[in-house]
Amino acid sequence: MHVTSEPAILYFGTPVVIISTLNEDGTANLAPMSSAWWLGWRCMLGLAAYSKTTQNLLRTRECVLNLPSQSEVAAVDRLALTTGTESVPAAKLGRGYRYVKDKFGVAGLHPDASHTVAPPRVRECPVQLEAVLEGHHEMAARDAVLRGRALALEVRIQPVHLAPSILMAGHENRIDPDKWRPLIMSFQKFYGLAPHELHDSKLGRVPEETYRSPDVDRGRVVERG
Ligand SMILES: Cc1cc2nc3c(=O)[nH]c(=O)nc-3n(C[C@H](O)[C@H](O)[C@H](O)COP(=O)(O)O)c2cc1C
Repeated sequence: MHVTSEPAILYFGTPVVIISTLNEDGTANLAPMSSAWWLGWRCMLGLAAYSKTTQNLLRTRECVLNLPSQSEVAAVDRLALTTGTESVPAAKLGRGYRYVKDKFGVAGLHPDASHTVAPPRVRECPVQLEAVLEGHHEMAARDAVLRGRALALEVRIQPVHLAPSILMAGHENRIDPDKWRPLIMSFQKFYGLAPHELHDSKLGRVPEETYRSPDVDRGRVVERG
């Protein structure tokens, strides 16, 4: 028998993404988030409107989505409860957030130049997706109380950078799910995936290449400077 319940949050477990964006003064900001999902070479990001990342993304229309593996969990936790917003919003102050200018320094992570966007990649992350903002949607727009608080932002991926350690042997364009160990946030706690495939997958018999989007060709843009 199920019980009817009212959990305050419904964060059932999604991979963590560290988003890098550029501040007004040209320095980089980093923020961990996990309300993200992918379709083709597009990603939808669920972000609080008052986060520095959201403001940077709306202003510059560029970011890098850096996916940490389980190995980077301590660095992600060092970024938790920090914001790049100098005057910390009241709601964040109440939850113990503090302003941090140098997010790379605090996290112990290192920047590498991107190829097509200005924000840097995070060297330690095995997956680095350079991306541009294509559009955004205001969430809860019809609710007088919640309106303006959160946005769903659609980004288009350009170059994909992968650590060779997660590639499928003999395939330069395939990630091996047995080697890729995403860091999962579930109800504000960190988890990993079970080590092996749980069950044979019918969908897994469909060749990955049948999903290749025209965005892949579009992302093959002239590299920066
Ligand atoms: C693991 C993790 C996942 C998070 N997921 C989200 C998220 O999906 N959306 C969001 O708006 N904030 C999320 N947060 C909170 C942001 O990191 C927080 O708002 C932070 O202050 C943003 O930094 P910024 O203000 O410098 O952009 C998450 C935090 C952690 C540690």
